[in-house]
Amino acid sequence: MSPTLVNLAYLVAACLFIIGLKGLSHPRTAVRGNLLGAIGMLIAVVVTLLDKHIISYWLIFAGFIIGSGIGAVYAYKVKMTAMPQLVALYNGFGGAASLLVAGAVLYEAGVLRGTPQEIAVNAEFILSVFASGFIGAITFTGSMIAFAKLQGLTKETAVRYPGDQIVKIALALITIVFAYLMLVYPDSSIPYWFMVIVACVLGVLVTIPIGGADMPVVIALLNSLSGLAAAATGFVLFNTVLIVAGTLVGASGIILSLIMCKAMNRSITDVLFGTFGAVEGGPSDDEVYGGKVKATSPEEVAMLLEGARRVVVVPGYGMAVSQAQHAVRELYDLLEAHGIIMEFGIHPVAGRMPGHMNVLLAEADIPYDRMKEMDEINPGFKQVDVSIIIGANDVVNPVARTDPKSPIAGMPILDVDYSKTVVVIKRSLSPGFAGIPNPLFAADNCLMLFGDAKKMVEEMVKSCKEDFG
Ligand code: TAP
Repeated sequence: MSPTLVNLAYLVAACLFIIGLKGLSHPRTAVRGNLLGAIGMLIAVVVTLLDKHIISYWLIFAGFIIGSGIGAVYAYKVKMTAMPQLVALYNGFGGAASLLVAGAVLYEAGVLRGTPQEIAVNAEFILSVFASGFIGAITFTGSMIAFAKLQGLTKETAVRYPGDQIVKIALALITIVFAYLMLVYPDSSIPYWFMVIVACVLGVLVTIPIGGADMPVVIALLNSLSGLAAAATGFVLFNTVLIVAGTLVGASGIILSLIMCKAMNRSITDVLFGTFGAVEGGPSDDEVYGGKVKATSPEEVAMLLEGARRVVVVPGYGMAVSQAQHAVRELYDLLEAHGIIMEFGIHPVAGRMPGHMNVLLAEADIPYDRMKEMDEINPGFKQVDVSIIIGANDVVNPVARTDPKSPIAGMPILDVDYSKTVVVIKRSLSPGFAGIPNPLFAADNCLMLFGDAKKMVEEMVKSCKEDFG
């Protein structure tokens, strides 16, 4: 293929990535955006296969079949609530791929030295190989730790030890020494692989002190790093489309991390070096709940709803676990048919991944204009007759406003406690992701509907049908 044609195809692919990303910014256009991005990637892969001097199509074909097979099985089997773990794994493998490709090209450069296919080994090349290996290794082991934490294979809380920052700085400096050795001995791959080992250890140490509700930000950051590692590999391979795609992933991951940090009122440095997740010294469950929690029944909630004019539903992780969204849609239809306005208050970090609640509600065909973002719905909670919290906890926990020592201090929350009555559907008084009690459950205007979210909403629908006639 002529280089002009290749570059033209890469340009088309890059445009499709950008238009695809734009589409992903709204649920209505997300599926089309995803498809456009996938078409862009298909063009990039096919053109690369035709362009480069391929040694073995069979190996590529075997990798394609095995990789696609595993990917397809996982994509079908994985639960929506386990999506962050899957994303962590994908990020990690992306990082590993980058460091292996960079290592292979460095080795190839040594083998081809003095032949007509010689690769120009200059400072720019070595620094690209270093960046690819360094970022790729941190992404790989960091993502594996994030996966293990989210999957419950290891303790999810922050692991800290004295002098941890100094150890990390020392390791980072050691990798720079290896980068220097790579420049001095460009024919040897040994400094590169030692640098990769040190960066792998650094990846573990950077991720273990992060825990609790900061994990989603870390996943987005690692996603960004996997993109940057790919972009660096693009420089190693002189492949424009890899540079463009990697940069897009890097930039969007950083933007997503910043949006999440803002939603949790935390800075990136707080996330990376702070102590979120260390839940010590807070009030006990007994102190918060002792004798103050009032239980209710679906029938009682149906009666409350009959007298309401404005109802707000706040969905959370529990709605995703129990897959209650379709029952919620039935409740929505019923209330709206009786002239009761029902809206949905969506917190940016409700659930376990960005946009989690929007996706679930859209799946149940809840109109987009009824899904309100936190800033839009918060000022109106005093006029809300009933707020129904379905499997949410941290995102409605008022200690974020009142207790500066709480691990979620300063995180903006949905102000449901200002509404006339609050109904909380969950199975027990157990805490949410941040691991702290929620005084909302003991508030005077709060009723607890204990049970599985889907079952409880279905029973509420049944009782409403009977009451509304
Ligand atoms: P959480 O605070 O995690 O609370 C979820 C609640 O759902 C739990 O208290 C649990 O109580 C209840 N639940 C679980 N299964 C249920 C079921 N089958 N039926 C009814 N209730 C059920 O959820 P949230 O309010 O959505 O807050 C999200 C938290 O996750 C935040 O701390 C956030 O920072 C973090 N996080 C967010 C993301 C993103 S990007 N969205 C990613 C990772 C982590 P019971 O066990 O008593 O039922």
